[in-house]
Amino acid sequence: MKLYSLYFSPTGGTLKAARLLCSAWDCEITELDLADRSLDTGSLKFEKDDVCLVTVPSFGGRVPQFIIPKLERMEGNGCRAVAATAFGNRAFDDTLLELKNTLELHGFVCIGAAAAVTQHSIAPRYGAGRPDADDEKELRDFSAKLKAAAESGTAAPVNVPGKYPYKETGRSTIIPAADDKCIRCGICASRCPVNAIPENDPAATDAEKCISCLQCISICPQKARSADPAILKAVEQRLEKVCSERKSNTLYI
Ligand SMILES: Cc1cc2nc3c(=O)[nH]c(=O)nc-3n(C[C@H](O)[C@H](O)[C@H](O)COP(=O)(O)O)c2cc1C
Repeated sequence: MKLYSLYFSPTGGTLKAARLLCSAWDCEITELDLADRSLDTGSLKFEKDDVCLVTVPSFGGRVPQFIIPKLERMEGNGCRAVAATAFGNRAFDDTLLELKNTLELHGFVCIGAAAAVTQHSIAPRYGAGRPDADDEKELRDFSAKLKAAAESGTAAPVNVPGKYPYKETGRSTIIPAADDKCIRCGICASRCPVNAIPENDPAATDAEKCISCLQCISICPQKARSADPAILKAVEQRLEKVCSERKSNTLYI
């Protein structure tokens, strides 16, 4: 049995959750970053005996849309999958349903699903410090359950919450830009998952393409990129009611 962990983690929380969900596995684990534009997901042909964990952040209660065609190019061939999302202590709405449906349409059988609370990447005071020690234990224990189910061959297809048609996707309003600390190293441009930063002008951002994932801010070695603080503050205030109370992880097997 091989375990594949496919993830998109612009600021690191999703990868933390994905690693906890893999923690009980002692077989070979292949991590693949869905933000890597050179990753040819069409070459990924899985086998029945494999397990594929796909972990994405919930953006507006949906899967970040650039990921869908990447998943659609993969061949599941009956491979067992775990659909997982990291969400910033508001809600994950239709994210798991959209992820599970996409995987199942392409030959995967979803035997488990997880929604893990992580620090909100736009408004870090929500979900601050999560996953915390309690979350870590919960996710590690769940990883052991997933592994046992996969090994015993008793795992059954799982149901997840969500509605179809899915929630409408919103427009990105947070468009990061670079200041004069930018040395044009081009790291942000080469790693932007949607190619929204021109290689020849890395201080600019194409607002039409940008998905506000904030990866460029998080990886800039010069700390030259940032988003408009007034817009961030307004988002934080808008989220106050729905994000302040501690939310639980939800795990399905
Ligand atoms: C554009 C955008 C939309 C988001 N939408 C939601 C949401 O609908 N619900 C939620 O709970 N958190 C939401 N978040 C928070 C992220 O899901 C959460 O912070 C996640 O950990 C981000 O992944 P990362 O830590 O790997 O960057 C959103 C974050 C961004 C940047």
